Amino acid sequence: MLFGGLSSGGAKVSEMTEAVIGAVNRNRAMVAVALLVCVWLTVMQPDPEVPATAHAAAPTTPAKRPQAGATSPSPKPKTGLVPVVAPPRRNIDCTVVKCIALTFDDGPMPGTAKLLNTLAAHKARATFFVVGVNVAAYPDLVRRAVAEGHEIGNHSWSHADLGRSSKGKVRSEIGRTQDAVRRAIGRPPDLFRPPYGSTDGQVAAIARQNGLPQIIWSVDTFDWRDRNSRVVERRAVREAHRGAIILMHDIHRTSVSAVPHILEALARKGYVFVTVSELYSGQTLSPGTKYRHRCPPPPPPPPAVPAAPTVTPSVAPSPGTPSVTPPGAAGTPSAPAGVLAAPSAAPPSAPPSSPPVEQPPADAEECEG
Ligand code: NI
Repeated sequence: MLFGGLSSGGAKVSEMTEAVIGAVNRNRAMVAVALLVCVWLTVMQPDPEVPATAHAAAPTTPAKRPQAGATSPSPKPKTGLVPVVAPPRRNIDCTVVKCIALTFDDGPMPGTAKLLNTLAAHKARATFFVVGVNVAAYPDLVRRAVAEGHEIGNHSWSHADLGRSSKGKVRSEIGRTQDAVRRAIGRPPDLFRPPYGSTDGQVAAIARQNGLPQIIWSVDTFDWRDRNSRVVERRAVREAHRGAIILMHDIHRTSVSAVPHILEALARKGYVFVTVSELYSGQTLSPGTKYRHRCPPPPPPPPAVPAAPTVTPSVAPSPGTPSVTPPGAAGTPSAPAGVLAAPSAAPPSAPPSSPPVEQPPADAEECEG
């Protein structure tokens, strides 16, 4: 029983041993297969820098790496960087001439071309306060306006309400438009008009940092509200005044259609159409300061009143003494009409008269009204 038991026990051990060995071999085989799978996966793993859809991203020509020491090719010139040649600035003295400045906001848009035709036909110059996004879209219209003698002003990038914007937003709106105009015509604007006339101390400070005076207006045609050419014409002509800055919008077809009549009616009244910078010629505009119109020249000072002549005892001419007749008295030939006689010596007590000197106001808004 014991041997039998041992014999049967040994057989069982032998079977178990074979079973263990078989299991180990199977495990080894499985481990070997697993290792092979891992190696295969590693080899076939795609390079993370190669796009999965290599055919879509594959360059048609192999990229060339710059060679050490090789000179980099000169950058391709950007279109629009060639400065526009503007006609010579006119020498118009708006303290003498009846000047008026038409301004057109929010463009350029395709309709601006028709307006430029009208202005050219009337030999009138104007100022365009442009929106940066439109400058980027229609740079050729900006270039044409400058080439025909008009002036370009900054009217923000997206026509944002800058008086209600953060400092960063105001900086961006003004700066991006300065850059867009510089790209289009070769130089940035010298003027700035806040959209809606919405400005505050922060906007003024940033305008000042950009060297830009704030140009508002003194005549609002409300052409954005009244899309009626006749209404806009009548309002512009009725409210025009010497030194005025008139606000219109070249983005509205009805406004552009109103311009020929406005030009003709105001020309009949003796107005000369100038740019804003021409309007203020001879006067330095202060960056950040608001301007609404050119103030009229101060009235000339009253003529100096000569001191009363001192009374001296008259000496009766003695008989036989020839009398001295003052020039211009009866019997003496006087200067013909329209010709000024030679100036006589001023009385010693009268101060020398000096020509009136125009003093620009400390705050341009004070001259309103
Ligand atoms: Ni505007």
